[in-house]
Amino acid sequence: MTVIITGGAGFIGCNFILEWVREIGEKIVNLDKLTYAGNPENLAGQDPDVYELIQGDIGDAELVKDLLNKHQPWAILNLAAESHVDRSIYSPADFMRTNVMGTFNLLEATRAYFGSLSGKGKEKFRFLHVSTDEVYGSLAPNDPPFTEETPYSPNSPYSASKAASDHLVRAYFKTYDLPVLTTNCSNNYGPRQFPEKLIPLMILNGASGAELPVYGDGLQARDWIFVMDHVRAIREVLFKGTPGETYNVGGHEERTNMEVVLAVCAILDELTPRLDGQSRTVQIKHVKDRPGHDRRYAIDDRKIQMSLGFSPQWSFTEGLKMTVDWYLSNTIWVEKVKSGAYRQWLDLHYGQKDK
Ligand code: NAD
Ligand code: TYD
Repeated sequence: MTVIITGGAGFIGCNFILEWVREIGEKIVNLDKLTYAGNPENLAGQDPDVYELIQGDIGDAELVKDLLNKHQPWAILNLAAESHVDRSIYSPADFMRTNVMGTFNLLEATRAYFGSLSGKGKEKFRFLHVSTDEVYGSLAPNDPPFTEETPYSPNSPYSASKAASDHLVRAYFKTYDLPVLTTNCSNNYGPRQFPEKLIPLMILNGASGAELPVYGDGLQARDWIFVMDHVRAIREVLFKGTPGETYNVGGHEERTNMEVVLAVCAILDELTPRLDGQSRTVQIKHVKDRPGHDRRYAIDDRKIQMSLGFSPQWSFTEGLKMTVDWYLSNTIWVEKVKSGAYRQWLDLHYGQKDK
């Protein structure tokens, strides 16, 4: 009874594993390349009988094949990805390598492994691919939210690479009967998110007195979901989803970026006021817009609600307060991430260099 997760040292993956260990307790093996976004300290101290980290690339065919043969998982959860839109604009090649070719390699290895299964093992097996709402492109202000039928229209190298991986996953169901499931989720926030993304960046810059860079007019809208709700949605889809189906996941909390930044400022003003008594809003600075910036994402999640009974439990107000609290309380985590010291974890624990 083992599952393999990829990208489990990242933001969503580590929150998934922590919850899995607590609630399910089945063995979970994490295949993670440990890029800048992978922080193994997030999972330090777990019971080695339940959690195992393998440092490696989903694009490494031999490694993936050996892992599948060794652990005989009943499920593979694919979260490994290059995930930051801004990085994809300046350096798209890594996104194609991991998100497209890496997923392809994982699917190929899974197809061979699935072919070796029989009986109940074959019936139970699932490949769950974690994707994004960004594959659907950008909405106009009065457009209806994205459904699972919305045509793909990705606008950034990141979303194009995720769209390609979604198409490959779908093709492996249609062509090879691989029992795949795909989730397309909106913007996540919560503890342990790398502070290059909007919310943790605003919290840490806000707290330290630095500028709060808002791209363009800041009126771009996103649907924000607390990471633990997304984690729960992934589990529901894994246990109850129908192979070949895709499920949109959202937080029911559409906000403009300015609304988000102002909300972060208000919480910081309350919890840790500036010494000069001014509001953190004085730190807001409108900067040059992101090229190809999607104006609006919104999710219609009636399918997962009606077919699997899932709906998000955290309001944006509660989740954001909890998140700001977490970043203000976990100063050691924050310092290690800011200084890059978290990357020394491997040397300390495995004696490896330059990882
Ligand atoms: P993240 O960037 O925090 O973590 C990604 C993890 O993948 C890191 O641990 C990294 O080391 C690992 N990784 C990268 N390349 C790898 C490779 N070639 N082989 C093995 N591991 C590799 O990302 P996240 O925010 O946790 O997102 C996880 C998944 O969820 C991604 O697929 C992302 O597209 C998707 N998603 C994210 C959001 C969001 O708002 N963060 C929303 C919807 C979907
Ligand atoms: P981000 O967290 O990068 O997620 P995504 O691009 O995947 O939606 O950005 C969320 C929104 O915040 C997006 O519209 C870009 C904007 N943004 C800023 O205005 N300033 C920033 O410094 C960052 C990182 C993002």
